[in-house]
Amino acid sequence: MACTLTLDVSPPVHRWMNTTLQRDVFKRTIPVLAARVPASKTGFMLKSGVMKKSLMDLPKVRSVLRDPYDDLERLVLLNVSEHAALSQEVRDFLQEQSATLVVHNLELTYDYWTADEILHSILPEELCKGSPSGFAVTGHIAHMNLNKEYLPYKHIIGQIILDKNPMIKTVVNKLDSIDTKYRFFKMELLAGEPNYVVEHHESNCRFTFDFTHVYWNSRLHTEHDRLVQLFQPTDVIADVFAGVGPFAIPAAKKGCAVFANDLNPESARYLSQNIVDNKVASLVRASCEDGRDFIKKVIGRARDHPFPAYTGPKLSKMQEKEKRRLQLGKSSPTALVDQSAVENQSPRQTITHFVMNLPDSAIDFLDAFRGVLLESASERDLSGNYANMPMVHCHCFTRELQLDRAEADIIQRVESKLGHRLDTEVTLHMVRSVAPNKDMYCISFRLPRDVAFAR
Ligand SMILES: C[S@@+](CC[C@H](N)C(=O)[O-])C[C@H]1O[C@@H](n2cnc3c(N)ncnc32)[C@H](O)[C@@H]1O
Repeated sequence: MACTLTLDVSPPVHRWMNTTLQRDVFKRTIPVLAARVPASKTGFMLKSGVMKKSLMDLPKVRSVLRDPYDDLERLVLLNVSEHAALSQEVRDFLQEQSATLVVHNLELTYDYWTADEILHSILPEELCKGSPSGFAVTGHIAHMNLNKEYLPYKHIIGQIILDKNPMIKTVVNKLDSIDTKYRFFKMELLAGEPNYVVEHHESNCRFTFDFTHVYWNSRLHTEHDRLVQLFQPTDVIADVFAGVGPFAIPAAKKGCAVFANDLNPESARYLSQNIVDNKVASLVRASCEDGRDFIKKVIGRARDHPFPAYTGPKLSKMQEKEKRRLQLGKSSPTALVDQSAVENQSPRQTITHFVMNLPDSAIDFLDAFRGVLLESASERDLSGNYANMPMVHCHCFTRELQLDRAEADIIQRVESKLGHRLDTEVTLHMVRSVAPNKDMYCISFRLPRDVAFAR
């Protein structure tokens, strides 16, 4: 008869536990069979096709142990408790190898089981279906979004998440309320250190910020990357709602010049720190003002204080040396021509992209673009610089869940704020679903010339 019996290694059930985690009650002794064989035979046993299905294969459990009574012998653990559970083929094989069967007591403790397994043995059965153990990570903080039925167990849940994830030092639960002005989440500490200043890495950049005072959402990583990939290194970006810099800093790392703005003084402070930490101070200028004022002023700022021309990718020391060697005349002519083409560009004084990630209300700021080139050009004519109008990437929410309806809804709201039809280069990108009846989009369009010069 084939062996079908599998070991039950689930943790003991302790549904009485609800406020304080007691790790020491999670213990189980499970008798399993072990084949005692000479040390020299263990490799052969482990590789044998016959034994394959009968060997112990549990995470974090060693399947070969020293025999406590004989240094030259090994215990190869099997995945059954009883002799009868072994197939005839396995028994014959063990006999051929002169293996003797002994009982070994497998001791499992709290450290063995996963967060989900421990939670399932504590929570009431009706709460075990949806697991509460999911969380997002920002730096050293795990943040959870617990449904209300799990709240009586929130501290135990937090402690288990902390125990089972060595990189996590703080576990918080997002509260329902969000700061309406600066969009950061209110949160409560569930377990670990009350330290909310995180160092988070995204797109090869390091971001430091206080998670209780600024907006950050790791789920936007793909959207940050998507827009940054659209930019050319020669571009000049105006990030109207920059937060602590997840568009601005990676864009600068690829060579773009960036005006990065955020009204939240804490965001602006950490943005400035992140600019320095990521060594992009020559390419990012931070400001702390209302998005509407920023849109109106930034075109003039770029004109009055242009960024230096893009001079090609940042070179390593080796590459710098090679460049100098090439410039001393040992180069192929094409290499020199390409480099000088890059270096001969004039200073950058024209904004090529606006980024507006404040999905709740960014569309309401679009009327600030009306007459923006006239206003900024009060003393000078800027139209020459803006032969190509800038692209605007505006994030927004919609409750229309079908693409064509969402598109109609968003375009209608954008056109109404701009006071003009969107004619060219309009694209709509679905960023993510934020709630069952609410999606986040990014609409990208070229700013209509008539809007920028509207009187
Ligand atoms: C949704 S967050 C986006 C932050 C960042 N761009 C990102 O992708 O993570 C919106 C940001 O806009 C800022 N903000 C809110 N109202 C603003 C306003 N009137 N002017 C400028 N910034 C504002 C908030 O402080 C917040 O940092």
